[in-house]
Amino acid sequence: AARLRVRQALGAREAAGEVQVQGWVRSVRSQKEVLFLHINDGSSLESLQVVADPSMDSRDLTFGSAVEVRGKLVKSPHKMQNVELKAESIRVVGPCDALSFPLKAKERHPLEYVRQFPHLRCRSNALGALLRIRSEATAAIHSFFQDNGYVHIHTPIITSNDCEGAGELFQIETSNETQESAEKNHFFNVPAFLTVSGQLHLEVMAGAFTHVFTFGPTFRAENSQSRRHLAEFYMVEAELSFTESLQDITQVMEDLFKTATSAVFSRCPRDVELFHKYVAPAQKGRLEQMLKNKFVTISYNEAVEILKQASQTFAFKPEWGCDLQREHEKYLVQHCGEVPVFVINYPYDLKPFYMRDNEDGPQRTVAAVDLLVPGIGELCGGSLREERLPFLESRLQRLGLSDAYQWYLDLRKFGSVPHGGFGMGFERYLQYILGVDNIKDVIPFPRFPHSCLL
Ligand code: 4AD
Ligand code: MG
Repeated sequence: AARLRVRQALGAREAAGEVQVQGWVRSVRSQKEVLFLHINDGSSLESLQVVADPSMDSRDLTFGSAVEVRGKLVKSPHKMQNVELKAESIRVVGPCDALSFPLKAKERHPLEYVRQFPHLRCRSNALGALLRIRSEATAAIHSFFQDNGYVHIHTPIITSNDCEGAGELFQIETSNETQESAEKNHFFNVPAFLTVSGQLHLEVMAGAFTHVFTFGPTFRAENSQSRRHLAEFYMVEAELSFTESLQDITQVMEDLFKTATSAVFSRCPRDVELFHKYVAPAQKGRLEQMLKNKFVTISYNEAVEILKQASQTFAFKPEWGCDLQREHEKYLVQHCGEVPVFVINYPYDLKPFYMRDNEDGPQRTVAAVDLLVPGIGELCGGSLREERLPFLESRLQRLGLSDAYQWYLDLRKFGSVPHGGFGMGFERYLQYILGVDNIKDVIPFPRFPHSCLL
């Protein structure tokens, strides 16, 4: 018998030969004359209807059990589906203890409920759809860059630098404190950390390949329980050499966002629909509109002026030189019409050492950009990088980092070019396009303070 995935079977027409389908039971309905099953194998949101003789029923054939069905695909009399599987045999491969199984038949479990079961929630409709979308989005992002001539770089996960300089590093320790490593103190002779960003390594590569990208896990020991922060998250990062202005960077951010989102919407429409129908009903129309319009750009100066006009509404009073708070980001996005907004040219002192001085005053602003989006806040961060040796040297000196970043300074001596790039939080991206409130629901196994299950 030909083995078919449920998705293939659903897309097939009536077929002559015997087929075999495997999966997990999503419903059992036993009637006098006929036994109906629905089985799902994760290949699609829809389940395949199986029609069987009641004699094939058994105690083990319950919601959640794993089965293998052999039979013929026949045209279905129901409008909802093309075909159904007329069973010739049903084998329960693995029974499921219905009493202790936390998922129940015929229930739409809320995301917060299934979050308690990280080892089982992928069998719910919502997480199933979400993780298929996540897989498609990953492929769409890779395609976007590959199609536009970027080279994919595997930047390291273990590193000795703190790219963002925010001190949110997880330090690596060895578990078996051998005599030798205790003496040496460090396995690598230097303190090593889980990466917070692949940017500095991408800058190295942009100096040879011109356009590069990376898409991997990043780690931040941020003590935040917010619905937008994880300790382990995925970041999409790009770096471009020979840039003329910040607009070269924001254009790529916008193109990436729109191309990937359109691809995801057209490649898994049913999975996406589940979210736009039940989780965030207002999101669909807004996103379609957003994909057609150009993103808005305002400067940090303008942003502060806008915020000052509404000063009384904020707990944290907006002031030039202060970081934008969540309430400020929210207000700005609303002020611009609930669309994505690039905020550019931030105060020098707010941003990391690598950002390019705009020279609009003594260390006044840098060529930085944050992309703010409705419901989420910051989705991307990027900048032009300081490619001029004297500027970079004096900034690193003031920070006492010249020795640690000798190699980074070196890059400014050997064919340095204007360059820049950005990073997009992949989970925040998924949250935004699907309207998912909590970041813990868009990653297979969330890590956050006081929680590292599995
Ligand atoms: O703004 P960030 O810190 O920028 C960088 O790391 C740059 N080095 C990137 C670059 O230019 N190559 O982080 C980029 C994005 C944020 O805008 C946010 O979407 C996401 O990463 N992010 C997080 N997502 C989930 N949990 C966290 N704790 C996050 N911290 C940042
Ligand atoms: Mg940022």
